[in-house]
Amino acid sequence: MCGIVAYIGNREVYPILIKGLQRLEYRGYDSAGVAILNGDLKIFKKAGKVSDLAASVKGQDVSGHLGMGHTRWATHGEPNDRNAHPHFSQTKNFAIIHNGIIENYSSIKEELKKRGHVFHSDTDTEVLIHLIEDIYQNGQVGMDEAVRLALGEVIGAYAIVVLGKDHPTEMIAARKGSPIVVGVGKEEGEYFVASDATPIIEYTNNVIYLNDGEVAYIKDGKLTVKTIENQVKTPYVQELEMKLEELEKGGYDHFMLKEIYEQPRSIWDSMRGRIDAQKGFLRMGGMAEYDAKFANAKRILIIGCGTSWHAGLVAEYLIEDLARIPVEVEYASEFRYRNPIINEDDIVIPISQSGETADTLAAIELAKSKGATIFGVCNVVGSSIPRATHAGAYTHAGPEIGVASTKAFTAQVTVLTLMALYLARHRGTISESRFQQIASELESIPAKVEQVLKLNDKIKVLASKFKDAHNFLYLGRGYGFPVALEGALKLKEISYIHAEGYPAAEMKHGPIALIDEQMPVVVIANKNSSYEKVVSNIQEVKARKGVVIAIVTEGDEVVRGMADHVIEIPPTDDVLIPLVSVVPLQLLSYHIAVMRGCNVDQPRNLAKSVTVE
Ligand code: G6P
Repeated sequence: MCGIVAYIGNREVYPILIKGLQRLEYRGYDSAGVAILNGDLKIFKKAGKVSDLAASVKGQDVSGHLGMGHTRWATHGEPNDRNAHPHFSQTKNFAIIHNGIIENYSSIKEELKKRGHVFHSDTDTEVLIHLIEDIYQNGQVGMDEAVRLALGEVIGAYAIVVLGKDHPTEMIAARKGSPIVVGVGKEEGEYFVASDATPIIEYTNNVIYLNDGEVAYIKDGKLTVKTIENQVKTPYVQELEMKLEELEKGGYDHFMLKEIYEQPRSIWDSMRGRIDAQKGFLRMGGMAEYDAKFANAKRILIIGCGTSWHAGLVAEYLIEDLARIPVEVEYASEFRYRNPIINEDDIVIPISQSGETADTLAAIELAKSKGATIFGVCNVVGSSIPRATHAGAYTHAGPEIGVASTKAFTAQVTVLTLMALYLARHRGTISESRFQQIASELESIPAKVEQVLKLNDKIKVLASKFKDAHNFLYLGRGYGFPVALEGALKLKEISYIHAEGYPAAEMKHGPIALIDEQMPVVVIANKNSSYEKVVSNIQEVKARKGVVIAIVTEGDEVVRGMADHVIEIPPTDDVLIPLVSVVPLQLLSYHIAVMRGCNVDQPRNLAKSVTVE
């Protein structure tokens, strides 16, 4: 979703902004713009890509040391030059960039119109900068105070940066509901502001995450943080571990492919220091403090969106299977609006890669208000979700840039497997030998994923056979069912081919009607407890002339004899099948999307972190 980058200091600002906006492209956007203050306050903005903006700015004077840039993902008003950010105030003396939604913008707009304000866009954002200027002019207050007072009047979510023509040594940023990171530069008095750390990391590792309702005032090289209620806060500077190389493609054609290939490492990183099968050791730092709560939990609620929700489904199977605690998995967006029953002894596990998904955050707040204990599973360190939870476990997958989630999913599943094992052990629902069996198999997963990655060329050939299909069906049972859902999601997200994931046995209650010789059906058919049943389902598909692509365990001759194509993956424990079987599906959708000429890393209409509901 919308991305923000801003700078104040002694460096030339334009290159920092353009490079920063390119780093933010992964979030998803449809227009981009910059404002530069150098005597005049100038705005350049354009629908389309950051490269379109850069081309349109070519030859113009963009010198200056203070400025801000924005990538916009349209909410209010279609994506065009006019609605792109930054937006000017009435006199053009102030400019704003904004991520989020101002819910009461239309009543404020009407009021300002009566006072002679003229608006040039359809956005809620423009209303806010007009309001700031109105307060500045009529209230006889400084820019800092005008911003603070205006924020007191708006309802909604925002991350904003404001510049004022007559305030050449000032920059103001604020957040409520949408993230803001302030980077403390290495040079004296320089500061960066961004919606996440990716545009900042090449300049500094020292960052401050603003809390909700906080405003950062940077003036004459000094930073002050206050709440909207005017309470001064002491900013907490933390050091980021993120490395610049992690934000580069590193020789791969796309971030998605790089991230698929990173999985042996990222899966390992997500269990590093937490488990040692040989020593029988398993520690989940954040959980220990809540041992009693977990042990007595009558129910666990898992919430998430998209791929994270699929990881939640895997967790449901794992936790019920191993730890025998009832689990419910909910879409965060449904949970928050359906008046759910939440008890004080419930444990709620929100799962999120970005840590910023608005619906997941709101669901957490709801569960918290009912007294539940919130234990998060998150990838982005310092993001809003881990800060809103009581405790949690980071997935340590490293930055994920491709919009389609790959390594974040396998890292989530790894951490959730560790959590299920931890719970099972503490509740005495698993024997030590079974624990050992799963733990040592889990440690061998990175090597097995490495083996699957060697099938890349074969999967590419398969992709070339199916790249023109209009529909796909993905089937799985047991632990293979969430994998079928995730495989279908990957395909539709990046290749725009319609795909549906289904529990294999449910096929006869609907999807079977769709099967004919045009319908590729991907079946997760690994050797596990439901293998025989899946084999029957494959027969049902073949009887209707469907084309079967089966993910099978190495050496499986039975399915080989029935399916049109097989992808053989190494054998593993039932409970760990998702970690190995999802990888060929990621590769299949990647190659199909590339062959169809799709923008794999930034698919149309999608955003990496969805910060509006
Ligand atoms: C967006 C992304 C998906 C992601 C989902 C949930 O739709 O494109 O890849 O699974 O949001 O995001 P989260 O960051 O909460 O895991």
